[in-house]
Amino acid sequence: MTLLETVNLSKSYGPLPALDRVSMAVREGELVSVVGPNGAGKTTLVNLLTGLLKPSSGEVLFKGRNIAGKGPVELADQGLARAFQLIQIFPRLTVGETIAAAIVSQQKKRWHLFSRLDADDAIRRRAAEIAEIFGLGGRFDTVAAVLSQGEKKLLDVASAFALKPLVILLDEPTSGVSTSEKHGIMKTLVAAAERAGVKGIVLVEHDMDLVATYSSRIIALAAGQVLADLPPDRFFADPYLVETVIGKRKSR
Ligand SMILES: Nc1ncnc2c1ncn2[C@@H]1O[C@H](COP(=O)(O)OP(=O)(O)OP(=O)(O)O)[C@@H](O)[C@H]1O
Ligand SMILES: [Mg+2]
Repeated sequence: MTLLETVNLSKSYGPLPALDRVSMAVREGELVSVVGPNGAGKTTLVNLLTGLLKPSSGEVLFKGRNIAGKGPVELADQGLARAFQLIQIFPRLTVGETIAAAIVSQQKKRWHLFSRLDADDAIRRRAAEIAEIFGLGGRFDTVAAVLSQGEKKLLDVASAFALKPLVILLDEPTSGVSTSEKHGIMKTLVAAAERAGVKGIVLVEHDMDLVATYSSRIIALAAGQVLADLPPDRFFADPYLVETVIGKRKSR
């Protein structure tokens, strides 16, 4: 089953398209990596997929329906969630409070069905469950400020899991984390996604080692166009593709 799909999706900020007739799909059970040099259009694609940007032309379909006119909040409510960068983490909130805040902000409507006390209890239990899934159970009452960079990343993604999303979008979830920590984080992320019932993951990632290890499919963008859409073994067997994707990259 196709969960998320784009059809001839284009986006221009100025005279030149940042994304140019991109057609791609994420099917059930897939982790699709989006790769490409700086400025290729990866973040633009993710922003279009989550309703943060409106397409100049073309369509985004989530569960077969056009998401036109739907914003990120409504889409998150329907099961399309996105992990943000660390800006979402408030240093003085504990792990439990951070996840609870995400649950409350995303499920506001639903909690009205419960009495206040029942709701508080349900939120706490759900927050504890999510913390556990992400290996942050032992850190539940720890303030975010003292977490390691890797734990902060996990907390960031854990918050996006608050609504039991069907599809999750991760824009460089391991940026700013040491190489040795990257694999551990990705492993936890993928296992957590599975346990939480996530059916599809879109991953924007510059680290080709992670891309090679975790992708079911790789979509390479260059200058806003799809250069390749291949399983990892075929992608990495093509030196031209690999060179195009990583060769021109500015170091960061
Ligand atoms: N808000 C904006 N206004 C104008 N141009 C933009 C805007 N956002 C992105 N662009 C341009 O659109 C193109 C694609 O940018 P985008 O951020 O999607 O690339 P990216 O693949 O995510 O790059 P990076 O690897 O550096 O994160 C670039 O040429 C960029 O300069
Ligand atoms: Mg980007």
